[in-house]
Amino acid sequence: MKASLPTLLLVTLVVVVLTATASAAAPAAKCWSHSQDQGSTLPVFHVYSPCSPFRPAHAASWEESVLQMQAEDKVRLQYLSSLAVAHKSIVPIASGRQIVQSPTYIVRAKIGTPPQTLLLAMDTSNDAAWIPCEGCLGCTSTVFSPPKSTSYKPLSCSAPQCKQVPNPTCSGSACSFNLTYGGSTIAADVSQDTFTLATDPIPFYTFGCIKKTTGNSVPPQGLLGLSRGPLSFLSQTQSLYHSTFSYCLPSFKALNFSGSLRLGPVGQPIRIKYTPLLKNPRRSSLYYVNLRGIKVGRRTVDIPPSALAFNPTTGAGTVIDSGTVFTRLVTPAYTAVRDEFRRRMGNVVVTSLGGFDTCYSVPIVVPTITFMFEGMNVTLAQDNFLIHSSAGSLTCLAMAAAPDNVNSVLNVIANMQQQNHRVLYDIPNSRLGVARETCS
Ligand SMILES: *[C@@H]1O[C@H](CO)[C@@H](O)[C@H](O)[C@H]1NC(C)=O
Ligand SMILES: *[C@@H]1O[C@H](CO)[C@@H](O)[C@H](O)[C@H]1NC(C)=O
Ligand SMILES: *[C@@H]1O[C@H](CO)[C@@H](O)[C@H](O)[C@H]1NC(C)=O
Repeated sequence: MKASLPTLLLVTLVVVVLTATASAAAPAAKCWSHSQDQGSTLPVFHVYSPCSPFRPAHAASWEESVLQMQAEDKVRLQYLSSLAVAHKSIVPIASGRQIVQSPTYIVRAKIGTPPQTLLLAMDTSNDAAWIPCEGCLGCTSTVFSPPKSTSYKPLSCSAPQCKQVPNPTCSGSACSFNLTYGGSTIAADVSQDTFTLATDPIPFYTFGCIKKTTGNSVPPQGLLGLSRGPLSFLSQTQSLYHSTFSYCLPSFKALNFSGSLRLGPVGQPIRIKYTPLLKNPRRSSLYYVNLRGIKVGRRTVDIPPSALAFNPTTGAGTVIDSGTVFTRLVTPAYTAVRDEFRRRMGNVVVTSLGGFDTCYSVPIVVPTITFMFEGMNVTLAQDNFLIHSSAGSLTCLAMAAAPDNVNSVLNVIANMQQQNHRVLYDIPNSRLGVARETCS
C-alpha cells in the first residue's frame, strides 16, 4: 500500500442510516413546525428521520439497512428503465411501478379547506400526484378526508384532465382510473382541491384520490412528482413557480436535520454551475443530462462513449434522480471507475457487501471522484461516494453497476451523490444547476 500517512482517510465513526433511528424519539410535530415554512421554501426530511412517521419501527443493523436500500434501488432501476424504454407517450398521473417503492425524502403539504396536513414523498422522476383518501379500501393509512374539505371536487368525465390519465373510467359521472402493477391494483378518482406547499396555496390542484387498492404495497404517503408531464405539479403551478425548483437533500448521517425544497425562481443561488437538461419528448418524466466522463483522482477513466451517449430513441443516457439511493452506471462505465478506484488502493484486499463490490476493511486513502457533465464538473465529497459501517470496520464505494435483471442503458445519478448540494432544476432555460451547500 503506497498510502502516505498524512493523507490517510480516517474511517471515522459515523452513524449510518437506520442505526440512528434507535433513538428516534423526537416529537414529529416539532420537526414540522409551521415556522419552518418560509415563502416558497419548505423542509425536506429523510424518510428514516426521527421527524418521519414512516421510519421503520425497529432499527436494522448497518448491513441490513444497506442491503435493504440496495434492494429498493433495484426496483427503482427497473422502474426508471421501464420509463426510459417505454414506447408510450402518455404520461400517467400515477405510475404503477412507483407504488411498490419506498420513498427516500418527504415534504409536508396541506390540502383542502380547512387545510389537512399530510406528508408526501418527493420524486423527480414521476409526474404522479396521488393521495390515499379516507374510505380507501386496502390502503395502510388514509391521509386526506375529502368530506371534511369544502373545496374538494371530484372531476367529471368531461373534464379535460380526465383525458390525461391512463385508462380513465366513468362510474356515474366521476372520472377515475385503475392501475395495475404485479399483484397490486389501484383505483383512484381524479379530483381537485386547494393544495399548499410552504405558504403558497394552489387552488384547483388536480390529483388522484386513491379509493381502493389490492396487494399490500401502497406506501402510506401521497406522492409529489416533480417531473414535467401535463398533469405534473410543475405544469399545474407554472404561473406561480415557473417550472423552477431546487432542493438540498440532507445526509443519511444526519437524520435529525432537514434539507429544503425551494419552489420558484426567487431565492435560487446565483453562484452555481450549470449543465443543459436534455430534451427527450417521449420520456418527459426523466431529467436527462449529458455526462461526458468520470475522473477518479486526476485521471479520466476510459469509458466507451456509447456507455454515456444520450439516445432519445432507446432511452440511453444519464438521468438525475431523487428516488434512487446509490448511483448506478452501465457496466462498462462502472467497471472503469471501480477498476481505477481499486488500482489507487494498491494491494489492499477488496471485499464486498451485497451489490457493492469495492469495500475495504482497513483504513484507506481515497481519490476524489468527479462527474464531468457538459459545461460543469462536479467533484464529490467523500461523504457522497463512500459509506462507512457504524463500527468503522468497513468502507464501501457507494456506487454499482446496473443490476443484472435490468436491461439497463441508463446511468442514474442518485440521491446519496446529491446530498449536501443545492440541485436546481431550471426548466424554462433547460438547465440543471449544482452547487455545494451544507444542509445537514
Ligand atoms: C435526534 O434528536 C433526538 C431528540 O432531540 C436525540 O435524542 C437523538 O439522539 C438525535 N439523533 C441523532 C442521530 O442525532
Ligand atoms: C376499477 O376498479 C374498481 C374498484 O376496484 C372496479 O369497481 C372497477 O370495475 C374497475 N374498472 C375497470 C375498468 O377495471
Ligand atoms: C472538466 O474537467 C476536464 C478535465 O480535467 C477539463 O478538461 C474540462 O475543461 C473541465 N470542464 C469544465 C466545464 O470546467
